[in-house]
Amino acid sequence: MKIMVVGGGGREHAIVKKVKESPLAEEIYVLPGNAGMSADAVCVPIGAKDLDGIVAFAKEKQIDYAIVAPDDPLVLGAVDRLNEAGIPCFGPRANAAIIEGSKIFSKNLMKKYRIPTAAYEVFTEMDAALKYLDETSYPTVIKADGLALGKGVVIAMNREEARDAVRSMMEDHMFGDSGSRVVIEEFLTGPEVSVLAFTDGKTVIPMISSMDHKRALDGDAGLNTGGMGTIAPNPYYTPDVAETCHREIFLPTIEAMNQEGRTFKGCLYFGLMLTPKGPKVIEYNCRFGDPETQVVLPLLESDLLTVMMACTNGTLAETEVKFSSRSACCVIMASGGYPKGYESGFEITVDGDMTAELFVAGAKEADGKLVTAGGRVLGVTAVAENLPAAIEEAYRNVPKVHFAKAHYRTDIGKRALEATK
Ligand code: AMP
Ligand code: GLY
Repeated sequence: MKIMVVGGGGREHAIVKKVKESPLAEEIYVLPGNAGMSADAVCVPIGAKDLDGIVAFAKEKQIDYAIVAPDDPLVLGAVDRLNEAGIPCFGPRANAAIIEGSKIFSKNLMKKYRIPTAAYEVFTEMDAALKYLDETSYPTVIKADGLALGKGVVIAMNREEARDAVRSMMEDHMFGDSGSRVVIEEFLTGPEVSVLAFTDGKTVIPMISSMDHKRALDGDAGLNTGGMGTIAPNPYYTPDVAETCHREIFLPTIEAMNQEGRTFKGCLYFGLMLTPKGPKVIEYNCRFGDPETQVVLPLLESDLLTVMMACTNGTLAETEVKFSSRSACCVIMASGGYPKGYESGFEITVDGDMTAELFVAGAKEADGKLVTAGGRVLGVTAVAENLPAAIEEAYRNVPKVHFAKAHYRTDIGKRALEATK
């Protein structure tokens, strides 16, 4: 089969490597990919949001199966467009991708179908939002409605911070149109768990659980990022919690989307918080998480392409999805300064004795060398018998990757380890 993967980061590299293991895959194209994954797939310089370019390429190459990984093209309708062109595709159609594309949609869905989430109010007028801030309790959480690259969430400790956040979203349009409507919600506490799930719209099969580390610095200090590292499985996600989540969150969400005429097929990401009152949904994403995918897929033992095609064809119930009983740890190496300004163009070199996998996110070729070209440069993922061993192995390999001003956290998995004590 000829496979096309849309996207260009570490998540896409992890998908490409797993697809490459499939006996069904003959040719793999990645649009646009990056120079760091050119050994695993043919990178084609077509942007992930260029729907016309993507469809034209898929038709020209007679692609047998497409995988659309990032949120933007999904929300823009890449799957609808590819399907119209007769190309089967992994991922939700636009009318289901809205579960990530609009926070207001997803909050209203949860309220209507009684899926546990933080209490909230929606505001379309700034004055009403500011007035509400006079009455609410703190901390409080302010979210821009639309896609904001994972940065449209502000946890305000007091009224002043909250007012600043509302103003920058609704008046200064810091997140563009995505901030013209905001959600203000209850601040929840508890450990966070990411659960990615395969679904064909009828059956939902959760993948192995994971934990992201969103802050830039050790000890969960510093700014929010796209994610600085992950571990899997997440020790807070016990079999009891998993059972509750399946019954109260996963199945009701799939059913709610069907009721709304928005059947979701693909990978549905549940961002959960295990609060003292039980698991609650913090966010849905309509796609594989990044860097969660960089620990989850290396632990998948079943054939990824077969599972994905079962999601498309509606045959997931008859398909085996098996995960290893081992553990994985991914440490993201970023450009110094990320998520604020950073320099790029530094050569990336790797020692020959790596015993971990590399998933490259931000790199390009210059003068025949691989150089840095993004905030998050790459992920170093180790798989081992148990979590402590995976963490140790990942950190044993990080110093074997070299580029100037590299920044990484030194405590990925530390909090998870405390949970196991
Ligand atoms: P999101 O972009 O929705 O994933 O939010 C980013 C991060 O903000 C989450 O991973 C949580 O750590 C935090 N967060 C979001 N909503 C809440 C909430 N209601 N209470 C506490 N923390 C939250
Ligand atoms: N790691 C969080 C996300 O993919 O949105």
